[in-house]
Amino acid sequence: MADGTDRFSTYQTVHGKGDPLSRSVLVTGGNRGIGLAIARAFAEAGDKVAITYRSGEPPAGFLAVKCDITDTEQVEQAYKEIEEKHGPVEVLVANAGVTKDQLLMRMSEEDFSAVLDTNLTGTFRVVKRANRGMLRAKKGRVVLISSVVGLLGSAGQANYAASKAGLVGFARSLARELGSRNITFNVVAPGFVDTDMTKALTEEQRTSIVSQVPLGRYAQPEEIAATVKFLASDDASYITGAVIPVDGGLGMGH
Ligand SMILES: NC(=O)c1ccc[n+]([C@@H]2O[C@H](COP(=O)([O-])OP(=O)(O)OC[C@H]3O[C@@H](n4cnc5c(N)ncnc54)[C@H](OP(=O)(O)O)[C@@H]3O)[C@@H](O)[C@H]2O)c1
Repeated sequence: MADGTDRFSTYQTVHGKGDPLSRSVLVTGGNRGIGLAIARAFAEAGDKVAITYRSGEPPAGFLAVKCDITDTEQVEQAYKEIEEKHGPVEVLVANAGVTKDQLLMRMSEEDFSAVLDTNLTGTFRVVKRANRGMLRAKKGRVVLISSVVGLLGSAGQANYAASKAGLVGFARSLARELGSRNITFNVVAPGFVDTDMTKALTEEQRTSIVSQVPLGRYAQPEEIAATVKFLASDDASYITGAVIPVDGGLGMGH
């Protein structure tokens, strides 16, 4: 009988019973903020977790690879090191991102391009490289960290919003292109999260933002990590091309 249970059994027969206990996971920008919370969530579940960092001392407990995602050669070197030590990346979380806020009339082309080069083209670089191994393995999970701002827009953040909106089209195109290869591409769109990125805001800006959030507070990085972990789990095996808001209701309807 072609009921849901039978279809799931067919899925298991075709694709295997699911991911092995310890997968090779890469979290870009996993050295702090949301990325670190994501890296910890996977490590606590028993996965082998690699993180990228650019400078300073990376946190302990992970395979830390030095990598600036704006540099294709550094991305290549990082993957080589990860593949050597953990095997091909099975779960990629493209989290690294930057802001360079400015009103349009004062925004330089350099500031626009720099944000796009990290948030969008940087994500393209790491996803493209991860895909090589995923195609070979005939499975893979990719989660891109966008932002509520990519859907809502935000005055003074045209570069950032454009880069984060771009991730949605990017992920959905790849979901179509590579769905038949058993690789899923999903997007998480966090609202305002308590990290270095939002510490730069003034108290007045923070109060104004919180007043627009139905849940009336910022998110903790761990609340974003929980959704990312779900999207990489067996429970999310039939989810691809989705944009999941984790924003306290701020972006509702978009
Ligand atoms: N915080 C929020 O409210 C919020 C809301 C929505 C979406 N997000 C998104 O969530 C992600 C993480 O944000 P966060 O709040 O955790 O920010 P964060 O604390 O400022 O951390 C940013 C991370 O990105 C890394 N990074 C930046 N440029 C890089 C590059 N060129 N190459 C490699 N790594 C780079 C940083 O590495 P270094 O330590 O080397 O600088 C750092 O690990 C970002 O994509 C951000 O846009 C954040």
